[in-house]
Amino acid sequence: MMGRLAPHPGRGALMNHRIRTDVAHNARVWNHWLHGKDNYPVDRAVGDHITGLYPSIGDVARADRAFLGRVVTHLTAERGIRQFLDIGTGLPTAENTHEVAQRIAPDTRIVYVDNDPIVLAHARALLTGSAEGVTEYLDADAHDPQGILRAVEPTLDLRQPVAVVMLGILNFVLDTDEARTIVRTLMDAVPSGSALVVTHPTLELGGEGNEEAMAFWNENATPPITARTGAEIASFLDGLEIQEPGLVSCSRWRHDPSEGEPPLVAQYGAVGFKP
Ligand SMILES: C[S@@+](CC[C@H](N)C(=O)[O-])C[C@H]1O[C@@H](n2cnc3c(N)ncnc32)[C@H](O)[C@@H]1O
Repeated sequence: MMGRLAPHPGRGALMNHRIRTDVAHNARVWNHWLHGKDNYPVDRAVGDHITGLYPSIGDVARADRAFLGRVVTHLTAERGIRQFLDIGTGLPTAENTHEVAQRIAPDTRIVYVDNDPIVLAHARALLTGSAEGVTEYLDADAHDPQGILRAVEPTLDLRQPVAVVMLGILNFVLDTDEARTIVRTLMDAVPSGSALVVTHPTLELGGEGNEEAMAFWNENATPPITARTGAEIASFLDGLEIQEPGLVSCSRWRHDPSEGEPPLVAQYGAVGFKP
C-alpha cells in the first residue's frame, strides 16, 4: 500500500492500527540507539541486547546520521542540488534531511519514503519545511522503485538533478541483484548531475560481534537484515562518478580534519554522481 502525506493536517488517521508493539521494528530500535523516545519496550529490549553483543552499534547509528548531515550540506552548498528523495527515512530526529538542506537553500524540495507505520505516524514532524521549499512524506516500500517514482512527481521534477538518499536501507533488500535493480531503476529515472548516497553495514570494517548481532536481529526483529562486502556495495554505484574519498567507513567520509581521524564504524558510506 502506498500513501502520500501532504504537509497540511487532515490526511488520514495515520494508520496507527498497523503498528505492532510485540515485535521490534528497525525504525524504532534505530531511534533507541539514537537516544530517541519513539520506541516501545520490545524495541529497547532487542536494541539493548544487540548493544551487549555489538557495543559499537550506537556509534554506527550516530556516525550514519552525522554522515547524512555532511553529505546533505555538501550536495546543497557545493553541488547545487535542490531535490532529495530520502528512502528509508527513519523516525524524525535532529538534523533531518530537509532541515539541513533548507537551512542552506530554503527552496529545496524533499520527498521522504519509509514503509514503517510508526514513521508514518510521526511523519508530520518531518513536514515542517520552509515556505519556499516542499517537504512531503510517502508511505511506500523500497522494493517498488517504479511506484515510488510515479508517486514523487510532480513534487520532484525528474528532469532536474535529484539526490537519491539510501542510508541503511539496501541492507533490508536481502537479494543483491534486486538491490542493484532498485538502485538502477531509481538512477535511470533521474538526469545527469543527480547523486546516489548510500550507507550500508558490512562485516569488513571491524565491529566485533556484528555478525552475531545481525543473526539475533533476524531471529527477533523485523525486517530481516544483511551485511555486504565493500565490493557488493560498490556495485550499487556502478556507472556513477564516485566522489572522493570513495567508499569508506561513513565516519571518515569528508569528516572535519580539525577533529582528527574518527574511529572506524562497520558501516560503509559513499556518494556517486550520474555523469
Ligand atoms: C537503519 S534505519 C535508517 C534511517 C535513516 N535513513 C538514517 O540513516 O538514520 C532504516 C529505515 O529503513 C526503513 N525501511 C526498511 N525496509 C524498508 C522498505 N522495504 N521500504 C521502505 N523503508 C524501509 C525502516 O523502517 C527504517 O526507518
